[in-house]
Parts: sequence; C-alpha cells; structure tokens
Amino acid sequence: MKQNPLILGIESSCDETAAAVIRGRELLSDEIASSAATQAKYGGVVPEIASRAHAEAVDEVVARALQSANVQKEELDAVAVTYGAGLLGALLVGLSFAKGFAYGLNIPLIGVDHIRGHLAAAYLEDITLEPPFITLLASGGHTAILYAERADKFRVLGGTLDDAAGEAFDKVARVLGLPYPGGPHVEALAREGCPVVPMPKMLKGMGGYDFSYSGLKTAVINYVHTREQKGEPWSRADAAASFQSAALDILVQKTIEGAHETGAKVVTAGGGVAANGYLREKLTKACEEAGLKLVLPVKKHCTDNAAMIASEGLVQYRLGHFSPMSLNAEASIPLRHSL
Ligand code: KG4
Ligand code: ZN
Repeated sequence: MKQNPLILGIESSCDETAAAVIRGRELLSDEIASSAATQAKYGGVVPEIASRAHAEAVDEVVARALQSANVQKEELDAVAVTYGAGLLGALLVGLSFAKGFAYGLNIPLIGVDHIRGHLAAAYLEDITLEPPFITLLASGGHTAILYAERADKFRVLGGTLDDAAGEAFDKVARVLGLPYPGGPHVEALAREGCPVVPMPKMLKGMGGYDFSYSGLKTAVINYVHTREQKGEPWSRADAAASFQSAALDILVQKTIEGAHETGAKVVTAGGGVAANGYLREKLTKACEEAGLKLVLPVKKHCTDNAAMIASEGLVQYRLGHFSPMSLNAEASIPLRHSL
C-alpha cells in the first residue's frame, strides 16, 4: 500500500457532479458541474432532474479532473465515491460510474459516507492536521459539535435536536422570499441589516450542549407574518441578520466550549453552513481569543465537492478499508452510523 496514493474522488449525492484527484493530501484537481441553476426554478432539488444532470455530466467532469491533475487513469491507486446519504438516483450515477472505473482499472473502490467527507475536508486545508480536534459540522442535514478522537472515530458533544442549521437557513430564506438554496442569499441580505429583532433562546436540555432551530425558525415566520398582517413596516435585512446571528453565534459558542471541555487545541469545521462569512469571521475571532488553532476549509470545500470525498477516501485507504462491488447507495444514514 502506498503512503501517498493517487485517489480519484467522485461526488453526486445532491445537485453537484464533482470529481477531484489527490496525491496523499495534495489536491491536484477539483472539478464541479452543478444543476443548481436549473433546480432554483423549482425552489428545491428535483431528484429526477438531478439524476439526469449527473448522468450527462459525470463522464466529462471526471475526464476534466484527470486532465487538470495531469494524470492518466491507469496511474490511479483507488476510486473514492459517495455512497450515501443523498438522493438515491443521484448517488447511483456516481456510484455506478466509480464501480465501472475501479473494475476496469482493477483498483480498489472506496465507498465514502458524505458526512465523513465533510469532516475530512479540513485535512486538505492543513496537511499536518491530525486528531484530536473539535469539528463543527453544519450542513443541510446535520448540525453537531464533534470530538475527533481518531480520523475514523468521532464523539458527538452536542447538536441540534430538530432542524439542521442549513435546513433552517433554507426555510427562513423561503419566508423572506429568497431563492433556493437559501444560505448564501440569507447571508447576503443579512449584510445589509442589523440583528435588532429579538430571537428566542436556542439552548435546550440539561447538558447545555444541545440546541433547537425549530423555535428560531418559527420566531422568524411569526415576526414576518405579524408585521405583514398588521401592515407595519419591517426590514427583511434586519430579520435575516437577526436570524443569522442567533443561528450561528450558538454554534461558535458551543464549539469553543467543546474545545475547553475536551482539552482539544485544534478546531475544524465542515458542511455548507461553514461557507457562511459571518460564521467564519466569528469562529476565527473566537478561536484566536481562546488560543485555539482553527483549520477552516476554503468555502468551496465546505459546500458539496469531490475533494473532500477523495480526502476521506485517503483516510479509508490508509486503514485498508475498501468496498465490495456489491456496495449499494443509501438514501439516509443516521449520524451515529456516520461517526
Ligand atoms: O453541506 P451541504 O452543501 O450539503 C449537505 O447538506 O450535505 O450543505 C447545504 C446547506 C444548505 O442548507 C445551504 O443553504 C447551506 O448549506 N449553506 C449556507 C451557506 N452556503 C450553503 N448556509 C448559510 N450560509 C451560507 N453561505
Ligand atoms: Zn454536503
């Protein structure tokens, strides 16, 4: 087994068809094609449109990834691919393609859990990064503060009891009349406003580590509806800024507390919400103040991408974990199974 294998990563769990090549932790190429613009017309991801778009794009995106990495496919040591969670039809396009590739080249197939991919994105940002560290995972489906004991062993310190952060951004975006996906649009609107609208407390439970987004979301919905019904003037930008700071400040606070509690000296983050500029600024400042080292993946490695899948592929490769050709796609994977 090589120490620094050449790995092709493929991601197709939602609306991005992505392929990337790494050598060890060095990123050689990082390609993406997105059907998000088409999906935006429907206010969300239409599974059938996503599957078709993947089928049309995957061959070309992989070819581009090999070409820009200046690598011949025969040089590859393994193919890593997202097998779940995600849209079944979408996943099957990437998975079937990867199987064909691995079989044809007689190299190992590595099925990657999409969430583990998000957690592994930080390894590409800092090639010296090693556990233990605290990770803030904030995607469309999951939001939790994790303690990474080893590259393949995570402990949940706390997290959302209901909606994920990304989901809350998407729902609030809809209420504010913003297009899908909501996160970046809420962020842009929030920049024009002030967090002056009172928001409910989010902390829940005895341990003080768990929180709830559903009350926050309802508060925004009620605020908007009440103002509209009464015909009172209100600011969409202030509502966005108030929601954003309430939704994200708690994540920063709990992440720092997690580091203090476990004694971890390093903090990382992953998932689409970690691309949020407000969160990135706050987390950077909080880590500086707490004397913690922050390894924050670049924005395009926070949202869905194939570099992170290749990165987790490397973790699995080094552990000698390979997948059978019978590997199936999984629509949903509970967080405890991912960790
Ligand atoms: O990790 P991701 O790309 O997909 C998975 O769920 O795995 O996360 C997507 C989520 C969406 O809910 C999207 O609105 C949110 O991440 N998101 C953001 C931003 N960019 C993406 N949320 C807040 N601010 C952003 N800039
Ligand atoms: Zn994702």
